[in-house]
Amino acid sequence: KLKVAVMTSGGDSQGMNAGVRSVVRVALSRGLEPYLIYEGYKGLLCGGEMIKKVEWDDVSGFLTSGGTFIKTARCQEFREIEGRRKAVLNLVRLGITSLIIIGGDGSLTGADMLRAEWKEHINTLKETGSITEAQAIYNKNLMIVGMVGSIDNDLASTDMTIGASSALARICESVDALQSTATSHSRAFVVEVMGRHCGWLALNAAICTGADYLFIPEDPPTTNEWQKKMCSSLENSRSVGKNTSLILVAEGAIDSNLNPIRCEDVKGVIEKHLGYDTRVTILGHVQRGGKPTFYDRYLATLQGAEAVEAVIQATPESPSLVIGILENKITTQPLQDAIKLTTQVADEIQRKNFSMALKLRATTFIN
Ligand code: F6P
Repeated sequence: KLKVAVMTSGGDSQGMNAGVRSVVRVALSRGLEPYLIYEGYKGLLCGGEMIKKVEWDDVSGFLTSGGTFIKTARCQEFREIEGRRKAVLNLVRLGITSLIIIGGDGSLTGADMLRAEWKEHINTLKETGSITEAQAIYNKNLMIVGMVGSIDNDLASTDMTIGASSALARICESVDALQSTATSHSRAFVVEVMGRHCGWLALNAAICTGADYLFIPEDPPTTNEWQKKMCSSLENSRSVGKNTSLILVAEGAIDSNLNPIRCEDVKGVIEKHLGYDTRVTILGHVQRGGKPTFYDRYLATLQGAEAVEAVIQATPESPSLVIGILENKITTQPLQDAIKLTTQVADEIQRKNFSMALKLRATTFIN
């Protein structure tokens, strides 16, 4: 039987549990032997109780719950080659030849690195007598399939990542709640939303809540001009009858000199130039909490099924893969292509080539 292990890694996101459930149940239906790895790379390294063979009922209740029941952790040791060798040893001992990782781009890159070194590790383990010749032959290849679990929706080559829809829903709900108190006091609210270096959550939250102004990393405003532009935009909204102002700031927002734009700075400008009573709200981890939306349950379930199919179809020559969704169709693409395109966006921003960054990001979310 083909043995496949699934783990979650990096920041948790709503829908990861649904993804794990899907992988386990589809694997069982297709005659595979599924394993769960607890606490991400840490579990892979520690082995023992942290890697567990599972059955159908072990993932009951996973579909509708947020967070990740099999947990996630940062693992410094996995960054060292010796640490990764321990991970290889654990997989070989159990005869696991395929790994499905649900995580962000960093976690998926880590898995691809493990695969690139795989043969070297196998040889070393064989030479040192840690594994037998038969084990080395059986485990001569490792297949990697990634599913993108992140609220940030920051991976290129997919329209949506698992968790982004739930986080966006939570942001909308929270901003709606702020509106009633904002109206009562005729206040301005500056709201910071998550997304790391990606503005997808902020952009879409701005559209869905009717924000008056928005700051995202992909479209940095000119350093000494945004203050004036923002103020005149807020004044316009008030002049047509609004008694509140809503400004959304992506946590990675920067100006054209790559200086961070902070909520407190925005508040200061509004108070100084417009005199509006202003409050700052940092939404924080509430955005990652709670139940997944229908969409994240659906996306994770379909992608889990596709990930298992990819494992079954894989040959030793197959590249590591990532499951995505494009124009409403579940996709399977080389992982490295997706990572490369994602990294390119960040590089263009660093080079201050903002129009190119925006153009590249457009392949994922801005039209
Ligand atoms: O990548 C998901 C994310 O929630 C980002 O939006 C945010 O910048 C970061 O993780 C927060 O990380 P932590 O949970 O480690 O504070």
